Amino acid sequence: MLTETVEKALNEQINKELFSAYLYLSMAADFESKNLSGFARWMRVQSQEELNHAMKLFDYVVERGGRVELMAIDKPQQTWESPLRAFQDAYDHEKFITQSIYGLLEIAQSAKDYGTMEFLQWYVKEQVEEEAQADRIVKKLEMIKDEPAGLFMLDRELGKRE
Ligand code: FEO
Repeated sequence: MLTETVEKALNEQINKELFSAYLYLSMAADFESKNLSGFARWMRVQSQEELNHAMKLFDYVVERGGRVELMAIDKPQQTWESPLRAFQDAYDHEKFITQSIYGLLEIAQSAKDYGTMEFLQWYVKEQVEEEAQADRIVKKLEMIKDEPAGLFMLDRELGKRE
């Protein structure tokens, strides 16, 4: 049984994960419009991952006998001035999500909800990876700057993401 506070926080996290999916899909659309299909492919896969993050929370709330409550998803930004800007935003967004997971853990801890604390460990680990991968791409883009050959090569590399 979830407390009302924990249930509400889990539902808010579902919304944040769904917004993440929407944000990355919007980045994918922007990359597609600029013929950067590899960057777009990477963002599409990322968007799918975010949906999985949301569904894992959804299933957990159900398993604990809680009630999933879906909220409105904010409209994401539509365009970014460069791939670097987009990945910097993605990296900042992941840092925000990490803080949100930590906040959720603190709420679960206050409620002495050890089940939820244990469940959230998966997200704690996942966020380490999520931040690291966005940061890696930001660093590559910073090295490339506006050099087209480098951008083309990175586009090819990111397009291989499964
Ligand atoms: Fe679901 Fe990218 O954090």
